[in-house]
Amino acid sequence: AGTDLVRRDAQAEDAQTNPYPVDMALLKRGHDRYMIYCMPCHSPAGDGDGLVVRRGFPAPPTYHQDRLRNAPDRHIYDVIRNGYGVMAPYGDRVEPADRWAIVAFVRALQLSQHADAASLPPDVRAHLGAQP
Ligand code: HEC
Repeated sequence: AGTDLVRRDAQAEDAQTNPYPVDMALLKRGHDRYMIYCMPCHSPAGDGDGLVVRRGFPAPPTYHQDRLRNAPDRHIYDVIRNGYGVMAPYGDRVEPADRWAIVAFVRALQLSQHADAASLPPDVRAHLGAQP
């Protein structure tokens, strides 16, 4: 089982797009990890107005802008893994599979705040607190 995990991690590390099926299990895992590692700065809705920012840490950009909506999945994965500008890397705390789970959650957050929310399945919309 140990070598399977290593192989899965290596595949996740090489993937350019999310290698996992985006289902409720992955989104829930991503939501869970996001709340621990990202929400303090990026806020629950991803608008970049987290509690840490209110205490004076530099504000991250909102996820709800065209540049980040159009950024490839792999860009978000790499930001988590390597950090970006003044944002520290989380690669040592968030393993490859969980990075993709967070990417899926951030994508769902972006959709939930955009006109495309209607294209999300109803249970996913409900989970994100989007309007039905
Ligand atoms: C301690 C605060 C903090 C935490 C925690 C944090 N970030 Fe950031 N993040 C930032 C800041 C500040 C920036 C802007 C950095 C810059 O432009 O110099 C940023 C930028 C980003 C960007 C935009 C990169 C771009 O192209 O502009 C993404 C995507 C991102 N973070 C995702 C995440 C994710 C996912 C997590 C959780 C794993 C996370 N961040 C955790 C502070 C944080």
